[in-house]
Amino acid sequence: MTKKTDLDRKKFPEHVAIIMDGNGRWAAERSLPRAAGHKQGVTALRTTVRAAAELGIKVLTVYSFSSENWSRPQAEIKYLFKLLERFVRQDVAELHSHSIRIKIIGERSNLTRKLVKMLEYCEDLTKDNTAMTLVVAFNYGARNEMTSAVKAIARQVENGEIRPEEITEQHIAAQMGTSGIPDPDLLIRTSGEQRLSNFLLWQCAYTEFVFVRQHWPSFNSDVLESAIEEFRSRDRRYGGLASGTG
Ligand code: IPE
Ligand code: IPE
Ligand code: MG
Repeated sequence: MTKKTDLDRKKFPEHVAIIMDGNGRWAAERSLPRAAGHKQGVTALRTTVRAAAELGIKVLTVYSFSSENWSRPQAEIKYLFKLLERFVRQDVAELHSHSIRIKIIGERSNLTRKLVKMLEYCEDLTKDNTAMTLVVAFNYGARNEMTSAVKAIARQVENGEIRPEEITEQHIAAQMGTSGIPDPDLLIRTSGEQRLSNFLLWQCAYTEFVFVRQHWPSFNSDVLESAIEEFRSRDRRYGGLASGTG
């Protein structure tokens, strides 16, 4: 058996992003209410954050609530918000003690002042931590993120800070919520669905995708490690030639 420490650092993903999907189906398979799946999903998140940090992953990004999830029943939305608040309140001290930096991306203008303050508190408390960055995509939609970036750049042009011909890809990246964070190397989606659902559209230009059949509440370090193994078998060509050819 390969020990964690034996994992060859070569081609090891620095940034892993996860679409945590399948909470409802996990619950349905057990004749439980959907809320039970979301609750167990938070437990899986705790396990995964610890496993990722132990593996030496530098950035872990998780999709926890999308801009489209507002179309769910009010009671479910309320419960998901409650879980986030609880996670923030109960876990921030422990994450901080493990030197994990927390960053939250997504729209804040339609969140309550109280919640925004909590998110800012987490980010501020952990801002100098260096072991791993945990990016939580909450109330996040990639098209909304890009639209905000376009607006910000349009304002800069309007103010005469930049000319349109000076706009570069780096300039656009700097306006995203993920500014300063390297693009994901590996994106994992659980529960067998094979789509992005409006997640990190700009940042995933050259990300490797791994789809696993397990529902999110069943995710653990073994599933994470096998997704990483799959990633390490891929040949990332970035439009060039396969390694060993040419
Ligand atoms: C993921 O599980 C959690 C969120 C999207 C908030 P789902 O709630 O989407 O579970 P399924 O896909 O219905 O099984
Ligand atoms: C994506 O899952 C959003 C999150 C995991 C937070 P969904 O369950 O909302 O995505 P669709 O509706 O199946 O595309
Ligand atoms: Mg789903």
